[in-house]
Amino acid sequence: MSVFDLIKRRRSIRKYKETIVEQEKLNAVLEAARLAPSADNKQPWVFIVVTDPHVKKLLRSSYEEEWFIKAPVIIVGCAAPKEAWSRIDGEEYWKVDVAIAMQNLVLAATELGLGTCWIADFDEKAAKEVLRIPEDVRVVAMTPLGYQDQEKGLVTRRKPFNTIVRHDKW
Ligand SMILES: Cc1cc2nc3c(=O)[nH]c(=O)nc-3n(C[C@H](O)[C@H](O)[C@H](O)COP(=O)(O)O)c2cc1C
Repeated sequence: MSVFDLIKRRRSIRKYKETIVEQEKLNAVLEAARLAPSADNKQPWVFIVVTDPHVKKLLRSSYEEEWFIKAPVIIVGCAAPKEAWSRIDGEEYWKVDVAIAMQNLVLAATELGLGTCWIADFDEKAAKEVLRIPEDVRVVAMTPLGYQDQEKGLVTRRKPFNTIVRHDKW
């Protein structure tokens, strides 16, 4: 599929089949994340792959929606801010780095027929406790990963093109 088709096809999936995700596909989406660009090529990320049903259940303390733990896999995108690049004025870019890698993963999943859903509305402290994430590491986003059990059309509900594009000035 072309990248344009993938961008149009990717939707937030909130209903998953129990079907196991093949190891090959799991490796492929993680590889897509690994190959992402990052500021000064610092790659300040770690992706935790959660498949253990017990750990998934515990993770509900960080995000309570039932559908979230129904997916066979949950990927947790983490950043190590100390390893990341910052601009001279102190602006930090670790969140951007991990977001780009996560979106690579999400689009690769779409290509392989797997559903995902960006999740940011989690309790970071609870997630860190369950996954034993070190103090100085941040959780940027999570996504369930699995075969979707709902049909969704192409991307909709976006602002019109001419309201988001400006030329030569704000
Ligand atoms: C950074 C980010 C955080 C999000 N957090 C959540 C979330 O916590 N829970 C949720 O159900 N959806 C979450 N979403 C999904 C958005 O609601 C969704 O992308 C948006 O409504 C557009 O729908 P679509 O992804 O199907 O095109 C998040 C998306 C992004 C990009």
